[in-house]
Amino acid sequence: MHVSLTNIAAVVLAAGKSTRMKSRLAKVLHPIMGKPMLAYPLETLQGLGLGQIVVVVGHQAEAVKSQFSHYPVEFVVQEPQLGTGHAVQVAAPALTGLQKCVIVLCGDVPLLQADTLRELYQRHQDTGAAATVLTVELSVPGSYGRIVKDSQGNVLKIVEARDATPAELSIREINTGIYCFQQPFLLEALQTLRPDNDQQELYLTDVIAAARDRNLPVASLKTADKQSFQGINTRVELAAVASLVRRQINEKHMLNGVTLMDPDATYIESEVSIGADTVIFPNCYLMGRTSIGEECLVEPNVKISDSRIGSRVTIKMGTVIAESQVADEVQLGPYAHLRPLSDLRLKARVGNFVEVKKSVLHAGVKANHLTYIGDADIGEGVNVGAGTITCNYDGKNKFKTTIEAGAFIGSNTALVAPVTVGEGAYVGAGSTITKDVPPHKLAVARGRQVNLDRKIKKS
Ligand code: UD1
Ligand code: MG
Repeated sequence: MHVSLTNIAAVVLAAGKSTRMKSRLAKVLHPIMGKPMLAYPLETLQGLGLGQIVVVVGHQAEAVKSQFSHYPVEFVVQEPQLGTGHAVQVAAPALTGLQKCVIVLCGDVPLLQADTLRELYQRHQDTGAAATVLTVELSVPGSYGRIVKDSQGNVLKIVEARDATPAELSIREINTGIYCFQQPFLLEALQTLRPDNDQQELYLTDVIAAARDRNLPVASLKTADKQSFQGINTRVELAAVASLVRRQINEKHMLNGVTLMDPDATYIESEVSIGADTVIFPNCYLMGRTSIGEECLVEPNVKISDSRIGSRVTIKMGTVIAESQVADEVQLGPYAHLRPLSDLRLKARVGNFVEVKKSVLHAGVKANHLTYIGDADIGEGVNVGAGTITCNYDGKNKFKTTIEAGAFIGSNTALVAPVTVGEGAYVGAGSTITKDVPPHKLAVARGRQVNLDRKIKKS
């Protein structure tokens, strides 16, 4: 559907305290698949190309503002919070008046789709209504506001469940809390709100009755999509919505050609990209700004955050990768750990129980078993034997280890940095290397073996 939306402003309500989350963190900052809850509706609105977006904050206003300071939205602070109608009153002066329509929605509806808002606006335009409300029919309408209509199906008012008569309570069409208003009408109607309800708040929903009082038309759009408006008030709802978001993300990747062995047990955050024909086993966590190339194999229990992985990479079970770069055809794990700023080049291999930190492993390096490589530059084709340790830290400072191309480091070697092993050099197993090894030399730094006679006591 192509509808121009530049003449619309949006007001997003996100000031409430959200007592039921029982959290120190503002509700709209709770993460859902790597992004704070509020990011979802804000990005949906941004995608619509609206003329203006105003976000009403209150509870933990500073924290919310600073998390979204890079978004093209304006913030207004509602303090104290006297209800949804009061929140829009506080937002009203920020509206430039250039936009004819105002969409109002809550900040806790991450599943809301752009198309739903387009349809709502289309209905608003087609009917010429002063106010258009998005509704949905629920078998269990719970605590939602009820849509009261006359016998011709015209919307008369919205009644909160706590203020409703038994007859009104039995209505199953409810208010999603998402509306489109004509701006002049909205601004005027906001002035008429009174806190005469059970919560003694100013209810935005009373604006609907205000339109009827003025004989202005009110429209409604009943959506069939029972999920997209779903709000989050408790951690139970947070988990339910997060699992729907997760499923949407996973389906997108599968439709792009990624195999997820068990999508219900795969956790891919919203910013992650994955190339076609990559296969991901269960219980993997792909987080932050991670990208994975094509034809990779990611075995069970792998966690990757903020990293760039090339194509045809094999990541075996239990591997953890953070803020690192992995080139094509690298093999990792099982149980490898790449800590920040690890840079593994073409076809490097890092095996079982190997930890790498802030190091470059050039093409074809092999470090297959039980090794720590930190603050090091390991040249092309170097073989790092089992149990090799770069001793990069003296308790105060970190020092660099350089191993030049083609060198061979025997098993159980300690390389005491700063130190350089020259090109093609060889280090004997069990050595503690404290001095540079020149190119093509063999360094052995260990006690010589002596075989002594044993005196066996005969009793
Ligand atoms: C509201 C609607 C109800 C609808 C439901 C849909 C009213 C009076 N009722 O009820 O008809 O079915 O949403 O989810 O509007 N907020 C502020 N400032 C305030 C109060 C609230 O910014 O002073 C924000 C909250 O952060 C929240 C949103 O407004 O994002 C909704 O407030 P909430 O108190 O949850 O309203 P509901 O009782 O859910
Ligand atoms: Mg609510």
